[in-house]
Amino acid sequence: MRQREYIEKMRSVLRDRTASFGHCPTFFIETLGCQMNAKDSEKFAGILKEIGYEKAPGEFQADLVLYNTCTVRENANTKIYGHLGQLGAVKRNQNPRMRIALCGCMMQEPDEVQTVREKYPFVDLVFGTHNGFKLAELLYRMETEEGQVIDVWEGTDMIVEDLPAIRKYRFKTGVNIMYGCNNFCSYCIVPYVRGRERSRTPENILEEIRFLASDGVREVMLLGQNVNSYGKTLDPKVSFSELLSKVAQVDGIDRVRFMTSHPKDLSDDLIETMASNPRIANHIHLPLQSGSDRILQKMNRHYDTARYLEIVEKLRKSVPELQITTDLIVGFPGETEEDFQATLDMVREVRFASAFTFLYSRRTGTPAAKMPDQVPDDVANERFQRLLALVQEVGREESGKLAGRTMPVLVDEMNRQDRHLVTGRLMDNTVVHFPGGAELVGEIVPVFLRESKGFYYLGERS
Ligand code: SAH
Ligand code: SF4
Ligand code: F3S
Repeated sequence: MRQREYIEKMRSVLRDRTASFGHCPTFFIETLGCQMNAKDSEKFAGILKEIGYEKAPGEFQADLVLYNTCTVRENANTKIYGHLGQLGAVKRNQNPRMRIALCGCMMQEPDEVQTVREKYPFVDLVFGTHNGFKLAELLYRMETEEGQVIDVWEGTDMIVEDLPAIRKYRFKTGVNIMYGCNNFCSYCIVPYVRGRERSRTPENILEEIRFLASDGVREVMLLGQNVNSYGKTLDPKVSFSELLSKVAQVDGIDRVRFMTSHPKDLSDDLIETMASNPRIANHIHLPLQSGSDRILQKMNRHYDTARYLEIVEKLRKSVPELQITTDLIVGFPGETEEDFQATLDMVREVRFASAFTFLYSRRTGTPAAKMPDQVPDDVANERFQRLLALVQEVGREESGKLAGRTMPVLVDEMNRQDRHLVTGRLMDNTVVHFPGGAELVGEIVPVFLRESKGFYYLGERS
């Protein structure tokens, strides 16, 4: 209610701006990091649209630039400061009316906020991951108060939904089913910047998905840092597999995905639900992190490779043509060549369709940052290259297996390089390009997968 009032107040501020600028004020949102941030940005865009901002053609022309930051690895932070330097110069020299706002995970770190305060005085507004729903109010303060407005909450147990959102795609979107993370993997900063795990009720989630379906959405991705522990804090308790099967029954929803699954909480029920429901994607993103049991223990992951392989075997047996993707970290403190070889072995054994490979990044405040035997950069880099080569080799074979078959493709968009092609995805998440026009975007069409190009197929409509 309060936010609706601020949306109204900001509308009148914008009307004044439109008169003085000679055009409707525009916004540009740059999103870094994971699906959580992507979803938050859709919500921010919704609020900005509601207030009356239009989308800017590029960030340098925008009247309001919002950076939704990530801090999971150090290089994400470096990138933001690089960007900000550039933006500051544009604001100084070309567009002094520009307003710059920073939000997201990096702003939950007091040291980073201090840096912005001291070195980036041209930033107008800073907020965090817990109070983004207040965007209209924060903007109003930015427009009416002198100096930087900084409002970051340490944590929250609030879940605020029902604010407007603008989807990047008309026909597919992410749906938060839970917020935060309780796992405290020893390398990871997410629990510190996203707070404790909180699940939305199934009624609330299903209501949103029914609305989305009525609004043209055909594919939903259920989002959480560890969806397999969904519902554990709810009263009455609900399991993720129960939620998933309900979501898959919503009329109009043809495809259901979810991310991310933590192996430690993956249940047989979930495998059963995936197997018995054709609307649930035959794809699972199941971060392994390391193939060494010793390292997995130091990472505080609560599973070993035997357990991981057991899950994989059950999944493969039950879910036809399942594609498994993963995240892997190289150079965790204390990682030896032997530990690293164990990771390579797991890639060969599980046969991931693709894997995000990361160089371990030391995050202040996490237990791993204080561990002895930090791996030297050159050693980690060299391992990283070897891992990448193997992941690509295995991925090429795994993601080309359907060549010669005809499969349904949900068309995402016109191909960015070749305007005669459209680009979409199979149920198992593999990318397909094929000749077609804009009228296919958002449609599910059968496509003959003529040729595998490694990580994507070239096809034609059948
Ligand atoms: N909640 C998800 C992952 C979220 S972060 C899960 O547990 O699976 C996405 C990925 O970033 C992680 O899976 C991990 O591989 C990587 N990551 C997280 N912290 C990292 C760090 N300090 N250094 C390198 N990679 C990291
Ligand atoms: Fe980080 Fe682990 Fe939580 Fe994933 S499960 S967000 S890796 S602490
Ligand atoms: Fe980054 Fe925050 Fe996601 S740190 S990976 S954007 S939860």
